[in-house]
Amino acid sequence: MELHFPSNFLWGSTTAAYQVEGNNYNSDFWAEEHAEGSPYKDKSGDTIDHYRLYRQDIALMASLGLNTYRFSIEWSRVEPEPGQYSRSAIEHYRDVLETCYEHGITPVVAMHHFSSPKWLMRLGGWASPEVPERFAKYCEVVFRELGHLIPYALTMNEINLPVMLREIFSKIGFIPPVGIDRDAWVAPKWRESAAKLCGTTIESYFTFHMISDVTSINILKETHRKARESIKRISPNTKVGLSMALSDIQSISGGEELAEQKWHSYFRQYLPIIEGDDFFGLQNYTREVYGPEGQVKPAEEAEQTQMGYEFYPEALSNVIRKVSKDLSIPIMITEHGIATDDDTRRVEFIGKALKGVQACLNEGIDVRGYLHWTTFDNFEWQSGYSMRFGLIEVDRSTQERKVKESARYLGSIAQWNKLVLK
Ligand code: BGC
Repeated sequence: MELHFPSNFLWGSTTAAYQVEGNNYNSDFWAEEHAEGSPYKDKSGDTIDHYRLYRQDIALMASLGLNTYRFSIEWSRVEPEPGQYSRSAIEHYRDVLETCYEHGITPVVAMHHFSSPKWLMRLGGWASPEVPERFAKYCEVVFRELGHLIPYALTMNEINLPVMLREIFSKIGFIPPVGIDRDAWVAPKWRESAAKLCGTTIESYFTFHMISDVTSINILKETHRKARESIKRISPNTKVGLSMALSDIQSISGGEELAEQKWHSYFRQYLPIIEGDDFFGLQNYTREVYGPEGQVKPAEEAEQTQMGYEFYPEALSNVIRKVSKDLSIPIMITEHGIATDDDTRRVEFIGKALKGVQACLNEGIDVRGYLHWTTFDNFEWQSGYSMRFGLIEVDRSTQERKVKESARYLGSIAQWNKLVLK
């Protein structure tokens, strides 16, 4: 059986600057990695050296049949010190964009993907009321130069992630950076050291992942609004949105109310700021099931990914259907992926999920594209290089790229714009 997708469907994959470029030493994450007692498993270092190798990388994506590439611009490169903009960094990203066009690839650009400039921490980080203005200014500078080359922009990646992290970790009385293992981050010492490396003290050290209270959540929301406003003013043809991490929230008997609360806090509370966006970036990895006592662990026999998530490709279409009830703008799947050493599981995961996406299209839901997380095995934040999310393997000692079967599979679906079910 063949399942066809609409013409102009965007097929591609996603990366994030910090995870692939290498040497983003002006970013707060670099400080976290290098802090004394840091819980990060590896140092990002050169990562996969995409800052140097982007031309061959983009050519490789195109050769697979992909027609879209989502990447992010590193704020700390473009604005290394407050109000000082780097011509060299802007020209770099201009060339990345132009390279996409040379290869017939549509770029989707995120202006922020977790990492922020170190200097922001000196101003109070994401708790500072200056953030919306400063971020909007950075967007303005980038869009004045590059707006005509950017058809789709995300102001921020996973605007709702801090809320999810807060709910997970507030139970043990501390607000951590992304996914840090409990024992390591409860010790505040390394955070003091990270703050110092940013040129400040613990009192003003407040990274994106620590956004937690009503005030900082409101700052975040305002940041999106202001950034969208400045992008649209300068580059009215750019379609602007944000992305959200959304698990398929399910309930078993007695867990309905809790599941509803989670859905509100992870998704529905953001509806007012999505109003005015041109599209919605949906990111999904798995499901979460709630019962009367809270989240229910996956069954013993359930297959788990390297991240410990349940292998559940059906989640994607479930979430598409759920968000479509509240949204009147197109949906773009801006991330969806699986960490595994067994690439045949990735193939299966993609195929099953896309079958669901196609069903959603048939039901009349406006889905514009599917971007897989991620193009390459890369630096997975605190887990370092141990998680294999990539369509393409990288030998980091030579920086040689090796295409996996899943990359060929997604590439051929993209090329023929159809999914063939056996
Ligand atoms: C993030 C990525 C991350 C991926 C896998 C997403 O939530 O946007 O940066 O690598 O999940 O954990």
